[in-house]
Amino acid sequence: MIIAMDGPAASGKGTLAKRVALHYSLPHLDTGLLYRAVGRDALARGVALDDAEALAQVASGLQVATLDDPELRTAGAGEAASQVARHPAVRAVLLTYQRHFASGEVGAVLDGRDIGTVICPDADAKLFVTATPEVRAKRRFLELADRGVDVAEEAVLADIRARDERDSTRGASPLVQAPDAVLLDTTNLSIDAAFRAALDLIEAAMSRAGRAG
Ligand code: CDP
Repeated sequence: MIIAMDGPAASGKGTLAKRVALHYSLPHLDTGLLYRAVGRDALARGVALDDAEALAQVASGLQVATLDDPELRTAGAGEAASQVARHPAVRAVLLTYQRHFASGEVGAVLDGRDIGTVICPDADAKLFVTATPEVRAKRRFLELADRGVDVAEEAVLADIRARDERDSTRGASPLVQAPDAVLLDTTNLSIDAAFRAALDLIEAAMSRAGRAG
């Protein structure tokens, strides 16, 4: 069983994907971490974030064991991720890893921007998780404050808007809801309510798929 969960920054997709994976005992891949790690490694090696060829090489050498690096959760890493993610050559390298991850015997839950559209177009269930930019900025702000990061909420909102714009308008695998994905708007939902809604939508998608098959 493959579950694709896409959506913009701080929409709740990461937290939901983790809980959904636990619920179904499936492995989970936060694909944003791959792009964040490529950004981190590129900056560490002095590779320019617009040098597609050099970035693809950085992506090829990515050590997945380093994906739990707390540094990857910083706003700087998110910004670098969004810049390296524009390059088709980088995406092509990471696509192979993501498809391989999803092809395991039991399946997987993957969250990102293009899982339902590009990485796993045949996923059994596809959710597009969203919320208003203001609510997403508030969540990210509280998350950062919790980690002791001193940042203004307006700055977080500006970052979210800039990344939304870049992610949605890029030529390579833009952030867009797959035609067969179901929308989950978490603006007015608590994490628990969003989790229950996600499960309901997944169960409905599975039974539709069952009927079709
Ligand atoms: O949750 P947040 O958007 O802050 O971070 P993320 O999901 O880790 O994604 C960071 C950046 O990586 C995004 O802004 C996208 O540009 C890029 N990304 C992507 O292009 N495709 C994916 N499947 C996942 C992330």
